[in-house]
Amino acid sequence: MNEIAEFTKYEIGLADIDNDHRKIIAIMLRVRNALQKKNYKLCAALLDEFVEEAEEHFLAEEKILRHARYPGLNKHIVYHQELIWQAKSVQALCEEARGSAKIKRCFESMCDFLTADIVHGDLEFKEFLMEAGIAK
Ligand SMILES: [Fe+2]
Ligand SMILES: [Fe+2]
Repeated sequence: MNEIAEFTKYEIGLADIDNDHRKIIAIMLRVRNALQKKNYKLCAALLDEFVEEAEEHFLAEEKILRHARYPGLNKHIVYHQELIWQAKSVQALCEEARGSAKIKRCFESMCDFLTADIVHGDLEFKEFLMEAGIAK
């Protein structure tokens, strides 16, 4: 997963969305740190924060896309739901605190998914929003 410093190249051009993405990635990096230290209690707490932040962000993003009549909205909503589901799965594993290899695998898959959403999914609508005059 990319560090926040590298993240600027994935900016959408809408300050609210970009700030949310930065926040979400910052939490993920903290989860990764906690996982490396096998601090599963902290991981579970951070994932709570992650889910809360992500759900709020997704609602705001979907609202913008709905307003702009983005044709890929439904597909994008499914992406968002999947990410929340994956985050909750990692969290459940952390709460059990069993099988560090499994937790790591599950977390990595979630990171890949987050990257796919923010880097690919969200960049897909960037151009659409620019053409609609909503993003710069
Ligand atoms: Fe997003
Ligand atoms: Fe998204």
